[in-house]
Amino acid sequence: MKWSAVIAAAGSGSRLGAQQPKALVELGGRALIVHAVTSMQDAGVSDCIVTAPAGHIAQFQQVFEDAGLRVTLVPGGATRQESVALGLAHVQTPAVLVHDAARCLTPVAMIQRVQQAIESGSRSAIPALPVVDTIKRVSARSTVSETLQRNELRAVQTPQGFLTETLRQAHEFGAQLSASEASAAPDDAALVELMGIDVVVVDGEPEALKITTPFDLVVAQQLYAQRTTSERTN
Ligand code: CTP
Ligand code: MG
Repeated sequence: MKWSAVIAAAGSGSRLGAQQPKALVELGGRALIVHAVTSMQDAGVSDCIVTAPAGHIAQFQQVFEDAGLRVTLVPGGATRQESVALGLAHVQTPAVLVHDAARCLTPVAMIQRVQQAIESGSRSAIPALPVVDTIKRVSARSTVSETLQRNELRAVQTPQGFLTETLRQAHEFGAQLSASEASAAPDDAALVELMGIDVVVVDGEPEALKITTPFDLVVAQQLYAQRTTSERTN
């Protein structure tokens, strides 16, 4: 099956607080977006569509040129979902992965698990990890209102995989939701779920962590250093 990837990289990274868009922050001398595109290509994805902040297109172009990577660059939107929709318009393959540049260390084997689920007949598949902390619902007054059953909970990662047709339907459906209904669909798979289509869950990986805060960047730097050391010694 031929695959495209839409890589959402149009955010500013306000929580990371760098002086540049988060996707351009470097890890081991390469921008996060370069790591993300490379992992998609290693998983056999033929077309990478990257959504970048509208004011930084030329800068992204330069980064890809320097890295020798061929991608389709698209200006992103005001929200992640808008950015994904703008990227999705350029997809020409029957299957698509939706990924975050911020999950730059996603192992290729995990990407392939998502692809495998779609290739074996599912319309939508997401990687997820068991939750280790106990999760509670907390009221506005900072008191506990509910303790959730941990064994039923998963922390969801990207890439999320879809038949392109299904993701297009989901985005059309999402565009018609009211603002409060849309808040129940924070990711692409949630739109598919709201349409009543099964979303298959495959095993995620701790290494596929999303770099959100400066702490996450420190963790990712350590992981990356370890990965490159073990590649050198193997
Ligand atoms: N993203 C996007 N378009 C937006 C907002 C976010 O493509 N309008 C992308 C980000 O670039 C990121 C992914 O969606 O790769 C996940 O979002 P997040 O981790 O929240 O990144 P930012 O929005 O950049 O960070 P912050 O929320 O801290 O500003
Ligand atoms: Mg954000």
